[in-house]
This record gives sequence, structure tokens and C-alpha cells, in this order.
Amino acid sequence: MVRPDHYRIDYVINPYMSTQDQPDPELATKQWESLRQAIVDAGGTVEVLEQRPDSPDMVYAMNVGLATADGRAMLSHMRFEPRRKESLSAAEWFTSNGFALSRTGSEGVGPHFESGDAFVFGDALVVGYGHRSEALALKHLATEWNIRVRGLRIAHEGMYHLDLPFCPVDSTHAMVYPPAFDAASRVQLEQIVPDPIVLTDEEAFAFSGNSVVVGETILMPDCSPRLREILTGLGLRVVVLDLSEFHKGGGSARCMTNPLDFDLSGIGIPGGEVILPD
Ligand code: ARG
Repeated sequence: MVRPDHYRIDYVINPYMSTQDQPDPELATKQWESLRQAIVDAGGTVEVLEQRPDSPDMVYAMNVGLATADGRAMLSHMRFEPRRKESLSAAEWFTSNGFALSRTGSEGVGPHFESGDAFVFGDALVVGYGHRSEALALKHLATEWNIRVRGLRIAHEGMYHLDLPFCPVDSTHAMVYPPAFDAASRVQLEQIVPDPIVLTDEEAFAFSGNSVVVGETILMPDCSPRLREILTGLGLRVVVLDLSEFHKGGGSARCMTNPLDFDLSGIGIPGGEVILPD
């Protein structure tokens, strides 16, 4: 996680942001701390990366890079220039913590990849593309790491990263918001997720899909009674946290964290493979 010491809305790169609606720094720090504490209470361990003063969006740690349990990291190559300096700090952090670093590009050269678009689920690394990450980055991930990558094309500008309409809950269940994707990708999504928990418009735009599962606990910014019943029925403990200040930048619980334990061992394939929607 990245403590929100320099969190502001300086520019607008998604439909939630407005420079007229600034976060309250004290409240943001309190909300951030409540999420950190909830992760620890659920049995997780949190590493904290300092926020760069020149990178107000760095609080959305999910995007600094894709890290794996066996010590690899694919640095993000951000679509928008104002976020690119985050990668300098991320590269330093990953390297000094023993991760072997790769990248799909840098400084605008090479395909964009933002790690908020990537999750290991089922037999593949599932990657959203179209808004932030580019299709070519999927090829890069597959060949560099010799893994199977399944792409989903994001069509909805309010769901610009995969971690907004897609949230794995256990090995077969995931919360999904199909309207985020184009028609061919919705078909793919049905094949990827054996047991979908389909979010309503209201749930999706309350950032319910931007939740974090830690052990048996799911940390959510919002949970309707309907969703609570489903998630509790799966044996999860639901913890709801007010993260309103971070919604002003277009992110919530998932965006504010970056898992360092994605397991690639079940998705390896020599030479790599990319499966895109038709
Ligand atoms: N303002 C940030 C951006 O638009 C929000 C990032 C949200 N992070 C996420 N993983 N969806 O880049």
C-alpha cells in the first residue's frame, strides 16, 4: 500500500475525477489506515511504499506493477504521462525487495500495461485491455513469463481497469459486471468464471467489485444485503469500510492495495499463449 501523504486530484484521467472535488487529507489518511488495519486483522501483512510528492495517484498501489509469489514483477507502463514517475519508485522497491523486474515499455515507448488490469484466475492471467493496457502488452506478458493470458476488452469508460468489474472471490467464484465488456469478451468471461456473481449497476458503481479478499475475509467499500448474503454463504466474513475519499480519484479497496502473492505455477505454458475474444 502507499500512504496518501500527497494524494490530490491534479488532473482528470477517469470519469470519477474532478479537480473541483478534492479529498480531505485527514479523512483520507484515516480511511487508508482503517483499510491497512483491516488487512492486518484479517491475517495479512502490509508493506508500505512512500508516496512520491510528484505522483498524486500513487495511492492506487494496485497499478504500480504485477508481482508474483515466486519473485517476478512486471512494472506498469502507465497510459497517462502524469502517472509514469510512479514506476521509478516501484522499480526501486521491487528490485530492493528481491523481485526480478520486467517491463512492457517505458516513457511512452512500447505497449502500455497497468497492473490494475491483471488477475490470476483459473488457468490464466486474466488481463483487461482497451482503456489502459494495450493488447500488445498481453503478448509481452505471455512470452516473457511463459504463461497463458486471457484478454477481456473493456468497453465501459467508468470501468477502465479490470479490478472494477472483476473480483475473484475463490477458485471458482468471481464478482463480475458484464456491461463493462464488449460482446465477445462477455462470452469469454462466461468461460473464464464458472460461478459468476453478477453485480447490479448500483453495486458496480458503488465499487463493490473493487474489494480485497484476505483469507476468509472480504474487505469491501460497499455491500448490498443481497451481496452480503451470497458472500456470507460462501463462508466469507464481510467487512465494509468507508473509503469515500479514494472514490474521488476513481478507486477503492482493491486499487489501494497490490497483492504480492499472485501464483503463476498453475498457468505456465512453454512459449506463452494469448487468448483474445473473437
Ligand atoms: N486516478 C487513478 C487512475 O485513473 C485511479 C486508479 C484506480 N486504480 C485501479 N486499480 N483501478 O489511474
